[in-house]
Amino acid sequence: MTEQTTEQTRPWVLVTGGSRGIGRGIVERLADEGYDIVFTFLKAESLAASLEDALHGQGQRAVGVRCDATDESQVKAMAEHLVAERGAPHALILNAGITQDALLMSMRTEQWDDVISANLRSIFLAARAFLPAMLERRDGAIVLMSSVTALKGNTGQTNYAATKAAMMGVARSLALEVGRFNIRVNAIAPGFIATDMVDGFPEARLAQIKKSIPLRRLGTADDVAALASFLVSANSTYITGQTFVVDGGLSA
Ligand SMILES: NC(=O)c1ccc[n+]([C@@H]2O[C@H](COP(=O)([O-])OP(=O)(O)OC[C@H]3O[C@@H](n4cnc5c(N)ncnc54)[C@H](OP(=O)(O)O)[C@@H]3O)[C@@H](O)[C@H]2O)c1
Repeated sequence: MTEQTTEQTRPWVLVTGGSRGIGRGIVERLADEGYDIVFTFLKAESLAASLEDALHGQGQRAVGVRCDATDESQVKAMAEHLVAERGAPHALILNAGITQDALLMSMRTEQWDDVISANLRSIFLAARAFLPAMLERRDGAIVLMSSVTALKGNTGQTNYAATKAAMMGVARSLALEVGRFNIRVNAIAPGFIATDMVDGFPEARLAQIKKSIPLRRLGTADDVAALASFLVSANSTYITGQTFVVDGGLSA
């Protein structure tokens, strides 16, 4: 963090889906860098509480809020409350997401709709709710968590790939809409990152995946968090509308 701040005016960052995985890694890194953090979760209340406790124990400030990212009234109420309490966020990291894999021909309509809603409706609702305050402040960054699946495709993930490719278009288009207000919008496209989302893969599949990655390992949440940190920092103030791949060379 490079802004001049006092205890009262520390910039704050919203991280959606911060209880586990990549979001948790981002919460930990940004809290360590001195930001105040609000992170959301849906079900993992005890993980959220343990993250809050761990960060408080290190003298950092982070609050977990249960908020279904797909629920318009919950997102609106959260944004109104947080903006009234803290002012405009310095950054939104819209990371919450799910997979519901199936071959397209056998995919249930709910599997398609749930993934579109959790991954895509969620970023629309959050960006729309927080942008008025951010535009007024004329400074800020939005980071969307896309995926390398959008670039390479993946069997069984047509629903997921559709949302992650759409995010790249959202980043480009929203960057055009809000650039004159000094708000930057970028996307991150991670490859295989070691979180609950990939931990369920069979051992043989994981070995095959590692072999296909030039750096011969899965990524860590902190590999992605390092890029998120750069994209909300003063080191990236002339970068907007872009997607950055962090995949160990998988898509090279
Ligand atoms: N892991 C990878 O290899 C990989 C690769 C490329 C992109 N990504 C993307 O990176 C993001 C994070 O992935 P991950 O691997 O860290 O996933 P994860 O470990 O499964 O964690 C998902 C997070 O999203 C939250 N969440 C899901 N649905 C939500 C909703 N409706 N409202 C609020 N929170 C919700 C979960 O909350 P609860 O804990 O409360 O359930 C959790 O905090 C996702 O957008 C994913 O698509 C991941």
